[in-house]
Amino acid sequence: MPHPTHDTKTALLQLLRAAPGQFVSGQALADRLGISRAAVHKAAQALQRQGWALEAVSRRGYRLAGAADRLCPEVLGLYPAPAYFYESTDSTNTVARQLALSGAPHGTLVVAGTQTAGRGRLGRSFESPAGKGLYMTVLLRPQLAAPQALAVTGSAAVAVCRAVQAQCGLPLAIKWVNDLFYNGKKVCGILTEAVSDLDTGLVDHLAVGIGLNLTATAADFAPGLWDTAGSLYPGGACPAPRAQLAGAIARELLALCPDFDYLAEYRARCFVPGHWVTVREVSGETYTARALAIDDAGRLVVETAAGRRTALSHAEVSVKPARP
Ligand code: BTN
Repeated sequence: MPHPTHDTKTALLQLLRAAPGQFVSGQALADRLGISRAAVHKAAQALQRQGWALEAVSRRGYRLAGAADRLCPEVLGLYPAPAYFYESTDSTNTVARQLALSGAPHGTLVVAGTQTAGRGRLGRSFESPAGKGLYMTVLLRPQLAAPQALAVTGSAAVAVCRAVQAQCGLPLAIKWVNDLFYNGKKVCGILTEAVSDLDTGLVDHLAVGIGLNLTATAADFAPGLWDTAGSLYPGGACPAPRAQLAGAIARELLALCPDFDYLAEYRARCFVPGHWVTVREVSGETYTARALAIDDAGRLVVETAAGRRTALSHAEVSVKPARP
C-alpha cells in the first residue's frame, strides 16, 4: 500500500476534529474519504508517528484526544508556498527576513507558538505568551514602489479581519494604521518590515508580521498591558486551530496581492475617522487633531483645531473619548 499522502492525513484530521472527543468508525472514515479502511488505519498510524494524540480502538474507531492545536502542515492545509513552523523562535519576522536573503519565494509563511524576542512597531517589544496567540510572518515579493508599502499593511489588517470572521465568526475593527480591536481592546498588531532596492526604488521583499492574541489573559502579560490589550477568547479556547487560522490569514493576504484592493473594507472597519485623536509622529511630536478620513493612499487625514491639515503615513494615534 502506498504511503498516506498529505491530503489524506489532512482530510482525516478534519473529519476527526469535526467530532471532538468522539470515536468515528473506520468504515465511516473510509466512506467519507473514499479510501479503504486499511488506508485509514495507515494514515492514522502516520499521524500518530508525527505526534498526534490520535486514539485507535478496535470496534470503536478513531478519535482525537484533547484539543488538537499542533503547529504543522497538516493543519495548515493546501498552501501555495513553503511554510515553516516553530514551537519557539526569536521573532518570526527575523526568521522570514533571513529566509528572504536566501531566496525564499513570495508567500513563504513562518509561524511560531511563542517568540523570545517578538518585535512591535516603533522599536517596542511584542509579548508572545506560549500557545496563547498566533505569531506569524508572511514574506511578500510584490512589484511595488516603496511608498506604496502602506497598502500592504492595510491589506494585512483586512486579511486578518476576513480570516477571523470566517474561522471564528468574530468581527474585528481597525484602528489606523494596523491595530485590530475586539471588544474595545487591541487583540492584534501588525509589523511590516520592507527591504527596498535603492537602484530601482522598488520593494525587494516585505516581512508582514502578525501577532494575534487568542486565549491570553491579564496574567499572561506584563502588569498594565491588559488595560489596553485583550484577546479573542481570554482564558477559553479558540475554535480554529492556530495553523488553520494562520493559513486562512496568509491566503487572504495573498489573495489581495498584487492589486492591494483593500480600501473599501478597511474604511468600513476603521473606527478612527470622526473622532478626536492624539497623534504621535515618528519624530516624537505629539498633538491633538480631529481624524477626518482615510485617503486613497491609506493615509489618515487629520486636522488640528487651528486648521492645520495633514495626511499621516507613519504615526500612531489614540482615540480620545470626547472632543478636547
Ligand atoms: C505592534 O502592534 O506594534 C506590531 C506587533 C507585531 C507582532 C508580530 S508577532 C509576529 C511578528 N514577529 C515579530 O517579531 N513581530 C510580529
